[in-house]
Amino acid sequence: MSIFRTKLGGCAVMNGQSTSGFFPSKPFSDPSKLHGKGHKKAFYDSLELLKRGQDIVILGPRAIGKTSLAKCLGKAYSLDNSTVAVYLNLAGIKDMKNLSKHMKGAIVSLYSRLSGKKTKSIRNVSVIIAPKFPKAPWLEFFRLQLGLSTASDNLMDKLPEDFSQLVLLLPDNALVIFDEVQEMKQRKKFQEGLWRALNEREDVRFIFTGSFSGVVKELLSRGRQARMYYRNPRKVYLWPWDERDVLLYLQNGYIMCRKVYPQKFTVPNDLELAWEASKVYEKLGGIPGIISTYANYRCPPYNYSVEKAIEEAIGDAVEKARAELENIIKSRKSPCTYAKVIASLSQGPTNWSYIAKSTGLGDGSVQEVLEVLSKEFFIVIRQEKGGYRLINAVYETAAKEINIKKFCKD
Ligand SMILES: Nc1ncnc2c1ncn2[C@@H]1O[C@H](COP(=O)(O)OP(=O)(O)OP(=O)(O)O)[C@@H](O)[C@H]1O
Ligand SMILES: [Mg+2]
Repeated sequence: MSIFRTKLGGCAVMNGQSTSGFFPSKPFSDPSKLHGKGHKKAFYDSLELLKRGQDIVILGPRAIGKTSLAKCLGKAYSLDNSTVAVYLNLAGIKDMKNLSKHMKGAIVSLYSRLSGKKTKSIRNVSVIIAPKFPKAPWLEFFRLQLGLSTASDNLMDKLPEDFSQLVLLLPDNALVIFDEVQEMKQRKKFQEGLWRALNEREDVRFIFTGSFSGVVKELLSRGRQARMYYRNPRKVYLWPWDERDVLLYLQNGYIMCRKVYPQKFTVPNDLELAWEASKVYEKLGGIPGIISTYANYRCPPYNYSVEKAIEEAIGDAVEKARAELENIIKSRKSPCTYAKVIASLSQGPTNWSYIAKSTGLGDGSVQEVLEVLSKEFFIVIRQEKGGYRLINAVYETAAKEINIKKFCKD
């Protein structure tokens, strides 16, 4: 994959992804950028839940905006409560030793920034500090806890190794975000560390994002009799934008694009826009990550036509969707059954009895696979009339490319 950077009108471009801000192409933490009725509602509902003392799990398909929502909540919650938010991406951390190392890094970064020292950025970690965070009491508490005497004390060596002990050092009402939580390999140890931290720090809130598996599944399915059941996180779902969300997203971005490139870009008129949005929605669906790739191809320096931009965006998205489908299939105990059901769904909306008949699989196993694909991986949608379909045309195209033989040995 070629990576190139050009400077055009002050806008850096990488792999067809503009970083100009008309259509953000990376996760962001500014809540004013959250587009879509459903996404905005999820933001306000989540903020309310956090304020009421609930931890939350953000669930949804790939590229729907989970990381962005979590980071926006980190910003808004820390601002509202004059506290701090720590973001940890478990995809780059994976085990408890590394988690402690990264948590230490976050605390050192917090301490250094509040003490007016320079800090290096750490991969997979970020810390948000509210402007009104009362830094003096925390700095005093922190220095006392660790017995810090001189400014030259090596903080990293003084911090405890244990993850839950590190949580105890966080400021009052802090928020901790665990992104891609399914990537944590030491599930049991992670959960134990989490419960210890929760037990000691009722004021600290947690946000988890990732697929409905591993730690998330266990956290959500704990029964009433479980220890601290009341701290079971609440689910917040993100669903694709509808056609109107797509239209407004394109319109808003195009207006900004026109301001930056008055000579090179013209905003389509209302009729053209309505036609474009319906075409885009039909071919690409309403997943923000896919639509932002499309929209960036429409603006300078590309200035692609609707058709060409759709083609480019599909190429990129189908590749990613196929990799995701293959990973899902490989991760299951019966890959062959999953491959057959997914291949069957590639033909468009259908129902379970037709899938069972055409694949020769039992009714029960087809229904179970459809349940998992819709409720755990969010790539299948159950329609009102009872049928099932893949989440959008991109996934249908990707599913057509699945080679069943690769997963069915006999
Ligand atoms: N509500 C939104 N409004 C505008 N753009 C969004 C929104 N949500 C996400 N995006 C954009 O969509 C892309 C994907 O977002 P993000 O990385 O937050 O999704 P994700 O669900 O965490 O993806 P992944 O499954 O890959 O981790 C990013 O380019 C982001 O800027
Ligand atoms: Mg993410």
